[in-house]
Amino acid sequence: MARRQSGFVCQACGAVAAKWNGRCDSCGEWNTLVEEQAVAPGPARNARKGRAFVLSPLDGTAGEAPRTGTGIGELDRVTGGGLVTGSALLVGGDPGIGKSTLLIQAAAVVAQAGGRVVYVSGEEAVGQVQMRARRLGLAQAGVELGAETSVEDILATLEAAAPPRLFIIDSIQTMWTDAIESAPGTVAQVRASAQALIRYAKSSGAAVVLVGHVTKDGQIAGPRVVEHMVDAVLYFEGDPGHQFRILRAVKNRFGPTDEIGVFEMTGAGLQEIANPSALFLGEREQGSPGTAVFAGMEGTRPILVEVQALVAPSPLGTPRRAVVGWDSNRLAMVLAVLEARCGLKFGGLDIYLNIAGGLRISEPAADLAAAAAIVSSLSGAALPADRVYFGEIGLSGAVRKVAHMAARLREADKLGFASAVCPGAGEAAAGAARPALKMLNVSALGDLVASIAAGGIEAATG
Ligand code: TYD
Ligand code: MG
Repeated sequence: MARRQSGFVCQACGAVAAKWNGRCDSCGEWNTLVEEQAVAPGPARNARKGRAFVLSPLDGTAGEAPRTGTGIGELDRVTGGGLVTGSALLVGGDPGIGKSTLLIQAAAVVAQAGGRVVYVSGEEAVGQVQMRARRLGLAQAGVELGAETSVEDILATLEAAAPPRLFIIDSIQTMWTDAIESAPGTVAQVRASAQALIRYAKSSGAAVVLVGHVTKDGQIAGPRVVEHMVDAVLYFEGDPGHQFRILRAVKNRFGPTDEIGVFEMTGAGLQEIANPSALFLGEREQGSPGTAVFAGMEGTRPILVEVQALVAPSPLGTPRRAVVGWDSNRLAMVLAVLEARCGLKFGGLDIYLNIAGGLRISEPAADLAAAAAIVSSLSGAALPADRVYFGEIGLSGAVRKVAHMAARLREADKLGFASAVCPGAGEAAAGAARPALKMLNVSALGDLVASIAAGGIEAATG
């Protein structure tokens, strides 16, 4: 017979320990071990002999998975063309970032197209969700709404009628199931609840969307275990001080993971941004030193953003290096290369680097734009406002070519830029697909520094 046994489960990583500890041995987090009851897999009374099942070849007849378009283009782009029937999707993000708003908007579109949509909120009362829907003008969409946290009650309600095309659980951390004795929000509860809901989705063909909160260090709070159980994980991120919101896929069994969706939070809900470059460059202050436009790529889409740098004398013994929207290790590397290969000195100077608009960039191709912005700020010489930069900087000071050059140049041309500084510019200008922009080749970082500094840099570096 199954034996009840208790263990201490880390709420951050899900590791199980026999004894309570202040620190999880597995992930090193403090104060995360909580006692949970688990059913030990002891010898079952009615143990049965296994039954053989049929194995299939890889080249089956199953076609593309059928999808439900959400009617929100940016959401469809990130999921790879809509929600796959019978699949589970996890949407994570900081509290207040707009997860509930995005999902109620998607729910309304699917319902308007004739699908049955059930939205279960474990956090807000029915009245609150109704009020938001009314404010967004979606009250008539025909979404069925519930405020419930018991998984058994939710499943009984869903099974009482035809399976919905889409059902949304907001949020998985508030759900609990009778099968487990732990408190709601614990790893065991979240795991068991998610399992039951996903099982229903797979068997009924409904697509389920689970909302998950994210902790301050960027993990989906507690139950990272859920990430392994679902078919796709999307993060909704953005700076609360900016109105831009980025939806990013970090896992997707049915599509690419490098696409992003861009939204703007307005008084009337989330608006899609079809042309993010124009938005990110919208409030650009031209003619001031320390800014460079980076021609970047997010998935298959080129996005132009402004990289801003401020280099200023530091009152501190150890100067500050602060980065928003980029990797601080890459900043350290770019600074080291500028010092070691180009003779610049940053000792005693604070350096701040910011990606305008709240976008987060992870591409190494941004190295060159970051370097250009830093050198521009250091020298006090403004860069031409109609110029874009891209290229990866190596430790030797060489600038390396990056992928998708043509797409980056096309986007820059479309937005009215006149010139591009990048490695391999000579070949591109001479090639068959001649870019419309003026191409300025740079193969060593020293060349870039020299050209920017033609004015005041010698004085600045002493
Ligand atoms: P919400 O969707 O509740 O966030 P989450 O579910 O991720 O916690 O969004 C809450 C924020 O969005 C709140 O601060 C108000 C803002 N908001 C708008 O600016 N406009 C709107 O139309 C709506 C519905 C919300
Ligand atoms: Mg919410």
